[in-house]
Amino acid sequence: MDEKYWEKLKSYAMAWMKEAGQQIKQSFGQVLHIETKSDRTDLVTDIDKEIEVFLRDKVTAAFPNHKIVAEEGMGEQVENLDGIVWFIDPIDGTSNFIHQQRNFAISIGIYDDGVGIIGLIYDVVHDEMYHARRGAGAYMNDTRLLPLEPATLENSMIALNASWLLPKKTISMNAVIRLVRGARATRSFGSAAIELASAAAGRIDAYMSMRLAPWDFAAGAVLIEEVGGVISDIKGNQVDFLKGGTFLVAKPGLHEEIVTALFGD
Ligand code: IPD
Ligand code: CA
Ligand code: CA
Repeated sequence: MDEKYWEKLKSYAMAWMKEAGQQIKQSFGQVLHIETKSDRTDLVTDIDKEIEVFLRDKVTAAFPNHKIVAEEGMGEQVENLDGIVWFIDPIDGTSNFIHQQRNFAISIGIYDDGVGIIGLIYDVVHDEMYHARRGAGAYMNDTRLLPLEPATLENSMIALNASWLLPKKTISMNAVIRLVRGARATRSFGSAAIELASAAAGRIDAYMSMRLAPWDFAAGAVLIEEVGGVISDIKGNQVDFLKGGTFLVAKPGLHEEIVTALFGD
């Protein structure tokens, strides 16, 4: 597959995401049909499902041999990452979509034999398309994102949500307190995709989560790699693109400091 092929894929996907964005905006005037999934905090709406079907149908019509991993289950159960795999999150930040009608995004990552080639995150309401192709740089609309400079914990703004305050078996509360005290500031945006796009744009210095799925971070990982950010699980080990798990992205230097703050003694 050459550059031209990947550019074609990228421009098709961006056009479909823009079209999907229009459909989401049109839904703002409607009453949403909201269901819970694993528990009362895990929500899905009819719009999440409609957008996933829309994107899935576009991909399968244009690229019938590609595999699709998508949050709401309209994709496939993939056993491995062989071939071309599309990771689709039709609405990342569904709670924001329901409560705020903003601060959510469509996220699509396209991988070839497990290697991230294309990363696309579309912040629908702000009309900001974050896009990257491996080796060709990362952009927000037409503006190229700059390489990330090394950062230190004491001067950094870290995105994490309040669930880090809940007691955990795997991580001590003192470690989380040490990290939060050590940073300049914390933020929580409520959409992993927007948090990853913001990290790629240098608007936050790190983002960490106790649990993300591959469709939450596949696109963001490509953007981050293009600007030189560091990605791992929260212990500093490789992320699993089939199963997901804990997740940490940070500027160089800061990444190590966060892992040490959490797990160093
Ligand atoms: C969720 C959001 C949220 C993150 C959760 C994700 P969804 O995705 O990205 O910020 O904390 O772990 O599941 O369900 O809104 O697509
Ligand atoms: Ca998500
Ligand atoms: Ca979602």
